[in-house]
Amino acid sequence: MSEIKISPSILSADFANLERDIKLVENNGADWLHIDVMDGHFVPNITIGIPVVKSINDITDMTLDVHLMIDNPEKYIKQFADVGADIITVHYEATQNKTDEILNKIKSFGIMAGLSIKPKTKPDAITQYIPIADLILVMTVEPGFGGQKFIQECGDKLPFIKNLQNNSQYLQVDGGINKDTGKYCTDRGANSLVAGNYIFHSGNIKESIKSLK
Ligand code: DX5
Ligand code: ZN
Repeated sequence: MSEIKISPSILSADFANLERDIKLVENNGADWLHIDVMDGHFVPNITIGIPVVKSINDITDMTLDVHLMIDNPEKYIKQFADVGADIITVHYEATQNKTDEILNKIKSFGIMAGLSIKPKTKPDAITQYIPIADLILVMTVEPGFGGQKFIQECGDKLPFIKNLQNNSQYLQVDGGINKDTGKYCTDRGANSLVAGNYIFHSGNIKESIKSLK
C-alpha cells in the first residue's frame, strides 16, 4: 500500500454549512472523511453524534472515518455502524480489558476497526492488538480540540507500530498535522493523515490536501 489516505476532520468545518464543506473536500482529493465524536467524559469537549453521522452518510459516498473519543464505546458501535460508519476507531484507554472484544465487534459489522492511543500511552501497550486492528491511530495532540500543536514525540511512536503491521493495515495520525508534520509522520510509516485546521482554514483546500499526499 503506497497511497496516503487523507482524512479531513470536519471538526474544523463550518457546521452551519456542513454539506458544502464536505463536498469541498470530496471534490478536492480527500480520500476519507474524519468525524470526531466526543462525549464530555473521555475528553473535555462535546461534539456530534449518531444523527449527524446519519445525515452525512445521506449526502456523501466518502468513507466515513469515525473517531470515538467516548467512554464505553462498545455501547454505541452498532448504532454508528447502522448509520454508515465505514471505520470506527475507539480509544485503547476507553476499552478497559475488553479491547479485543470491542475490535471484533466492530469488524462483525463488516467495517474497519481502529484502535487509538493518546499521547501518554506507550505503543507497546497495544502490541497484542495490532494484528486485530485494521487501523492504529496515534494521537499527536491530546484529544479534545482542533488547532493544537503537533507533539513530535508522538510521531516517534510510529516505527514501532509500523514494524508490527502488515501491508493492508493503516497507521493514522491525528492532531496538528500540516505539510511538515505530515511528512514527519509519513517518513516514519504513517499511511493516513487526519487534518482539520490545515485543510479547512488553509484558504486553498485543494492545495492543502495535495501537499499532504
Ligand atoms: C482532536 C481530533 C482531531 C482534530 C484535529 O481531538 O481528534 O481530529 O479535529 O484537528 P487539527 O488537525 O486542527 O489538529
Ligand atoms: Zn480525530
